Amino acid sequence: MADVHITARALSALLGDWRGSDAAYRGLADRVRLLILDGRVPTDTRLPAERDLAERLGLSRTTVTAAYRELREGGYLESLRGSGSVARLPGSSPDVVPLRENGALDFSKAAMPASAIVAEASVAAAARLQRYLSEFDYDPVGLPELRRAIAERYSDTGLPTSPDEIMVTLGAQHAIGLLARTMVARGDRALLEMPSYPHAHDALRAVGARLVPVTVSSESGWNDAEITQAFERTNPVLAYLMPDFHNPTGASMSERTRAAVRRSAARTGTILVIDETTADLSIDRTGPHRPFATDNSEGARIVTIGSLGKTVWGGLRIGWIRADRQTIRKLVVARSVGDLGTPILEQLVSMELLPRLDDVIELRRAQLGATRLRLEQLLAEHFPNWDVPHVRGGLAVWVGIGAPLSSQLALAARSHGLVIAAGPRFGIDGAFERFLRIPITYSLPETERGVEALRRAWGSLVRDPVPAMPDLAAVV
Ligand SMILES: Cc1ncc(COP(=O)(O)O)c(C=O)c1O
Repeated sequence: MADVHITARALSALLGDWRGSDAAYRGLADRVRLLILDGRVPTDTRLPAERDLAERLGLSRTTVTAAYRELREGGYLESLRGSGSVARLPGSSPDVVPLRENGALDFSKAAMPASAIVAEASVAAAARLQRYLSEFDYDPVGLPELRRAIAERYSDTGLPTSPDEIMVTLGAQHAIGLLARTMVARGDRALLEMPSYPHAHDALRAVGARLVPVTVSSESGWNDAEITQAFERTNPVLAYLMPDFHNPTGASMSERTRAAVRRSAARTGTILVIDETTADLSIDRTGPHRPFATDNSEGARIVTIGSLGKTVWGGLRIGWIRADRQTIRKLVVARSVGDLGTPILEQLVSMELLPRLDDVIELRRAQLGATRLRLEQLLAEHFPNWDVPHVRGGLAVWVGIGAPLSSQLALAARSHGLVIAAGPRFGIDGAFERFLRIPITYSLPETERGVEALRRAWGSLVRDPVPAMPDLAAVV
């Protein structure tokens, strides 16, 4: 039985402006389907009773009944006796989310295929495994050699770090979830950027945090006054930030804002969780990334997250947390609730990779730069009215599409073989319908295919306009 539910009010906020030219029931069904597909309504969530939703949306009960019926027939809802209608994904058992839909291009992920050296490093790691078989089993903190290698990377860039200030995790997402569980109690305030990396706000929400959003945009980045006020007004226990390169906007935080953040956090006693998963992926700047925690004359408490997921390969599932020793000890104790440690073999592979990481990063920068250029050309050609910021690094471009049509576009794109997350997936409560995150992590042919799918999907929206949207005419 589903124990997670969404109220009519919360669903209505997520639905945003869903009315199209189709029959109302179909428009409603389409939008709920997208929310389920892109994870904004997780599978197993119980939807509101038809009567409640109809009342909230000002619709007849028959309309909602018809929408739910359509969703049920498509496999997106299951009616369970005694517990209402539960969100499902078609063709899968309730807990399994398909990775790719029928060979569709998946732009909902901004990640590159494995670096060529992973296979080689794995062979070398397997050869070294023998020595570890009798010495190590469950490893909740990380192999000493790997912690040393990660600490040395920080020290080499000017942030002195000792191995016992490092904990190896199952990627950066695990680190975010573990920190949220360990540092945040239900009802505590957690500051985060808006838009932000969706799984980070999911993790904070899951532990019952009250979210305090601060805005970030591709053009102007962060607003110092807004950040300072948000800290002072709400005293957050934790602030989750991505100074380089912010996902999804690609923005990079100015030195002035960094200092303002540290000053505010020091004053309010907030733990700064700095996610540097994509920090090495600068396209235009050469030389090593300077970690956020390097300058901290303000005395803020800073915890840094890193990962090999975006530089080397997401499938490796190796990330880390850099924090003071006491925090690391606390995290190690808390970890066993969710998992019992990082696999030894993957750590050995990472140890093989780390000495060559700078070469891998150089190659990644060149790949991202080439795709950024091609994407900018294609979008200028096919979508001259879209606002396409020139990102300096990171994995994606946060494009302004000029009208609140992102969810409709994402839905239409699926019919053209492209899975893409709609703008609101990066916000809370349905914001960012005017934005679309387009990754720059794909090959040039894939990028061309993706933009072609967007072009056709956009064309289908234009041919089938949405009368309820007054500003559509300005776009089409
Ligand atoms: C900002 C940010 N943090 C964390 C992650 C998760 O990374 P990992 O694969 O290391 O868990 C991602 C992946 O998209 C990300 O963009």
